[in-house]
Order: sequence, then C-alpha cells, then structure tokens
Amino acid sequence: MYPLHSHSALLLLACAIAVAASTRTVFTPHTSSLDTVRPVVFYHGMGDSAHSKGMEELFDSLRAFAPEIFIHSVSLAESEAEDQRAGFFGNVNHQIETVCEQLKGIPELSKGFNAVGFSQGGQFLRAYIQRCNDPPVHNLVTVGSQHGGVSDIPGCVQADASCRLMRTIARSGVYSGYVRDHIVQAQYYKDPKNLATYLSRNIFLPDINNELALKNTTYVRHLTSINKLAMFMFMEDITVKPKETAWFGFQDENGDIIELEEQDQYKENWLGLKTMDRAGKLSFELFQGEHMRFSVDEFIDNIAIPYIFELETVEEGKKRKQKNMERYRQIQKEQQQRQQSGMNDQTNILNRFNDLDQTLQTTLG
Ligand SMILES: *[C@@H]1O[C@H](CO)[C@@H](O)[C@H](O)[C@H]1NC(C)=O
Repeated sequence: MYPLHSHSALLLLACAIAVAASTRTVFTPHTSSLDTVRPVVFYHGMGDSAHSKGMEELFDSLRAFAPEIFIHSVSLAESEAEDQRAGFFGNVNHQIETVCEQLKGIPELSKGFNAVGFSQGGQFLRAYIQRCNDPPVHNLVTVGSQHGGVSDIPGCVQADASCRLMRTIARSGVYSGYVRDHIVQAQYYKDPKNLATYLSRNIFLPDINNELALKNTTYVRHLTSINKLAMFMFMEDITVKPKETAWFGFQDENGDIIELEEQDQYKENWLGLKTMDRAGKLSFELFQGEHMRFSVDEFIDNIAIPYIFELETVEEGKKRKQKNMERYRQIQKEQQQRQQSGMNDQTNILNRFNDLDQTLQTTLG
C-alpha cells in the first residue's frame, strides 16, 4: 500500500515476544535439584497473549530442564484473541483484581511462586504483589517493563488492528475520562511536561508507585517482602520511551533521564526500593537488542538459571552482569558516535515511520 511497509520489519515495533530458535544447550543441571523447583507465573506483554507461540516456546524451554515445573500464564479472557485485546482495553485496577482472584484459586501456587512479567505484564505483577501477594511471590523478574511510566504511547506491530485502534483513541487525550479508564497504555502514561495532571488523573501508575500524598504502607511491606526484584532493560529499545523506565528511570521536561537513585521515589523510599537495594534485593539487568527481542538461550542464561531455578552462584551472577554491562557501554558509545556523525539511520527511519503512522491515523480517525 505504501513503500515504508517494507522497512517496518527492521523497526521491530512489536511488544510480543519474538524468540529465536535455540541453537545450543550449555546448561545440564543436576536433575535432583530441579525436582522441587518453585512454580512460576508468567504475565504476557502488550499485543501478546497467555499461550502464544512465543510464550509456549519459553514454557517448553523450562520444561526441558525441569519437567515437573508448574507453569501458569496469566490470562484475562477465555480466548487468546480476547486476552490479547485485554492488553489494550480495560481498567488495569480491575484487571489486577482479577489476577489476584485467579492466582489465589490455583492450589499449586499456594506456597508461593516466582513471577516473570514481560513488558507491561511486569508492572502489573508488581501491582499484584503490592495489592495482594496472596499467595506470595519469591522472585519477580520484569522484562522491558514500564515501572517509571512512558512519555509516549508504545508503537504497534503492523497488522495489529487492536493496537492501532488503541493508539487512535489514546490520541484523543490520554487523561480524558473515557481514555484514562479504558485504555491500558494510558494508565501508565506519564507526561513529563504535565506531572500535576498525571498525578490527579492517571488511575493506576501514581497509586502503584506510591507517588500520591498518602503513602500506602501495605505496598511497601508487600514489595520489600519478596526475595529479589530483577529488572531487565533492553539496550536498544526504541519501542518504549524512555527505555530506562525498565529500571524505574524517567525523563524530565528536557528529555534527560532521571535515574531511580536521583528520584524522591528512591530517596524517600516511597515503595521501599532503597531498603530493597541495600538488602541486595534489586537487580538491574540487561538484554541486548530491541524491545522484547531475546533468544531462548538468553532467557535460560539470564532469567531461568538465576531467578527461576536459582542455580547461579554470586560469582557467576557478577560475571554475567559485568559482561552485559560492558556490551551496553559499547552500544552507548556506538550510538553517540552515530549521532555525532549524523548517520543515525534507524532514528531517521523511525521518524519517517512515525510521520506516516500519524498520517494514517489522521486519515482513519
Ligand atoms: C493500601 O493498599 C491495600 C492493598 O491494596 C488496600 O487494602 C488499602 O486500602 C490501601 N490503603 C490506603 C490507605 O489506601
């Protein structure tokens, strides 16, 4: 229909998992240690559903090592299509209530579980912990999540009609009555130029981040009770703005990143994150590449072994994180150089795509 569609594959504007095929098996654990592995609960991302091909591939990869592992994938509807739709449309507070009821009703989880949330599923599982945590979470792993909010509504996969509809509606005003109660992404949108409106009108994120005047001590008690909060950021994420939101980072009015440690959120310990940090419970983790792009091997090495099977030694963990951090620094350096030489093609293509997207939305709506 229009020429830029052929470039869109490069942009990878997808929040659903795209897992690459596994090519090697480095991990051969002692089977006995995995017989009693904790159950695990997954929460899919925007545009994805509980039992999509990508999700099932990950579950299978866990079962390959621990055949007995109990896996539950959070679903908000009977059908996959309806579950996917619930990722765009709905009231997140109601959805979290449903998740609380759902998890409480599963006998296999009654003694606690590890939790893995992809993209927006990450902050929703954190909300589960803060509001319910019954049964309790041991480790929470969030992957490319929007803990600190987003300064723009995330982009869509090409053919995703629900996502396009969501964006069209969101453009009518993210804090307006209908949108703020019905569009999921509006409920973690945080406008850096309009924080007062965000605080008074957003129905989910300010509450769950304990940013309002009245701090909820239950949130702090529940969150600090977990064993580990591991937060993965994608080094080259261009879908989520800013990508540092995965680590509770946010942008100021000028677009500069304010890291967690510089925020009152941390300094005044609104959620107990400082307490957790000092107790070694926070883990700032990295995945290479664009939003939600990782291989099964990367999933096993960085998530399953350290946080689901808990078979990584402290020393191994340090080495793994150091390696990821070195790669990140290298990528940051390369990006700076590209920007300086005005050769940032990816950004140029993205800007053109956004323009086109805008034109299309205007035509549609
Ligand atoms: C704090 O959160 C808990 C759990 O969601 C809720 O039951 C309680 O009413 C909240 N307290 C305040 C003061 O909002």
